Amino acid sequence: MDKRYRKAIIAGNWKMNGDNTSLKTFFKEVKQSKTPKNITKNILCVPATLITAAQGLSKSSKFSVGTQNMHFEQSGAYTGELSASMIMEAGAEYVIIGHSERRKFFGETDEIVAKKTTAAVLSGLKPIICVGETNCQRNFGVTLEVIRRQLKIALSSIDAVQLKKIVIAYEPVWAIGTGRTATPEQAQEVCKEIRTCLREMYGAKSARAVSILYGGSLNANNAREIFEQYDIDGALVGGASLKAQDFLKIIEIGAEIIGK
Ligand code: PGA
Repeated sequence: MDKRYRKAIIAGNWKMNGDNTSLKTFFKEVKQSKTPKNITKNILCVPATLITAAQGLSKSSKFSVGTQNMHFEQSGAYTGELSASMIMEAGAEYVIIGHSERRKFFGETDEIVAKKTTAAVLSGLKPIICVGETNCQRNFGVTLEVIRRQLKIALSSIDAVQLKKIVIAYEPVWAIGTGRTATPEQAQEVCKEIRTCLREMYGAKSARAVSILYGGSLNANNAREIFEQYDIDGALVGGASLKAQDFLKIIEIGAEIIGK
């Protein structure tokens, strides 16, 4: 089983939600729970303002801290932006790159995603790169082409050694925040294609070691059948990561199914 070659990862994406109070509550509940937290790699991607607090609170929780965006330049006249070294200094280990909400609302192109990926890796941050098709693209039957294009451009200057630091998240745009999850078959089809594409780019050994996550309305009720899919190694969870109890249930299912 190839799954043994890669990390099972359950990552939360708080988006533009949360404050110091909700963060403290989250980690208090995490620490009190009996959910096995050392089987899957658990990551919480918080708004940049909460990175440092999350890093402090997560210390004895077995959670790693990430955030949701960064600029590709190291410094300069980019009002309002944060560089990789800034978010690392604040305490982030992971960064989400190319989330569809950034592509849609902030004009992030595949080329920008590629620049951010390169900058993150060169700084020592671990990127969680999001790829996903829109409803329209799925209806026109071009899903796999879209995913391949996004992936190839995002990784265009990444070598096989750097690939080891990268996590890929397949997030169909139509499934994000809609309550409409991809079926296990749809999710597996695309995640398999992602791995095939990685194999073509980096060879079989490198490709089989990359953790590929599914994201889009994932919750404790539908996680099991998604995690059972051969090429799916975890999840990127939005809404269901805001409350520790909901997120911990997903971690528990992940530990049971993919953490073996
Ligand atoms: P959702 O979001 O779980 O709320 O659909 C997932 C994501 O956008 O990462």
